[in-house]
Amino acid sequence: MSRLTKAAYGVGILFFLVSCAFSVFYGYMVVNHDLPAEGKTMETYNYHFVLVPEELDNDYWRLVEEGAQKAAEEHGVLLEYAGPKQANIDEHLKTIEMSMASKVDGIITQGLSDEQFTPLINRVVEKLPVITIDTDAANSNRMAYIGTDNYYSGFLAGKALIEDTNGQANVAIITGSFYANHQQQRVQGFRDAVETEAGIKIITVEESEISRVRAAEKAYQILMDYPEVNAFYGTSALDAIGIAQVVDKFREQDQVYIIGFDTLPETLKYITKGTIKATVVQEPFEMGYKAVVMMIDLIEGKKVPPVIHTNTRIMREEDLPDIHRAMGEEY
Ligand code: BGC
Repeated sequence: MSRLTKAAYGVGILFFLVSCAFSVFYGYMVVNHDLPAEGKTMETYNYHFVLVPEELDNDYWRLVEEGAQKAAEEHGVLLEYAGPKQANIDEHLKTIEMSMASKVDGIITQGLSDEQFTPLINRVVEKLPVITIDTDAANSNRMAYIGTDNYYSGFLAGKALIEDTNGQANVAIITGSFYANHQQQRVQGFRDAVETEAGIKIITVEESEISRVRAAEKAYQILMDYPEVNAFYGTSALDAIGIAQVVDKFREQDQVYIIGFDTLPETLKYITKGTIKATVVQEPFEMGYKAVVMMIDLIEGKKVPPVIHTNTRIMREEDLPDIHRAMGEEY
């Protein structure tokens, strides 16, 4: 073997080892595995489920996880919470594939887009049950969906905006994603609600990639590019927070109306302050809790409705104390 060939082999082997190490590291970074609690072995559990959200460290998804973990503890289920650290469709799909390969008893996940999620969900369902949560892939063979009626929630947001602005507003929409089913439905519901109002104009629709920072950047750009915009609608949990940060800085109080989604602590803070005027309430804890119970029922052959819509409603500043009371200690 010539020196050159040896060197080429050496480089090849090195390249192989580096890529192996990279795959292991990458796999570890992407997927967060909650292992059985101390003193417990897999035999201690009745079932093993995986909950795959679009973004692990998102406060909204942490509430879904809390609900799911509560039900899991009550029913002797090992629940893994696994998925992309930051929203990323490929990593999301890969986590579902990996969960299927590791032969868990059931997968709970979003059905973000028909194009990418439906074929995969259909493949998984041939082997084990899949429940969609928060976002439905209604055309797939998933066994059931639990979550908000996303079209209706967008419609509610539109009606609230009409009421709060007396039917006069130039609206910019910041949506989590142009491609995700639930985000499209929340925009469509809103459009349909305001369609007949001559005084409401939708000036632009931008995408935040469900990132608070990106939502703030987009809001800033919108204020620069479209000075006529005096209302914002944010369709995913962090959008209105990002918008509020910018509006707080660059506009006088009450110059700009903001309606958003969800009741994360920062959203409530901005509602109390008056920057965010209204938000669409979802029930993430309940979604997580019920998804686990539904999965057990499915496996045990009990009848489960194909669609369960959790409650959704509008919350404004005057509703805050009631909401806090109603939510109790869970939130
Ligand atoms: C949506 C989730 C999304 C989250 C992003 C929520 O309003 O229901 O699907 O992941 O916002 O922050």
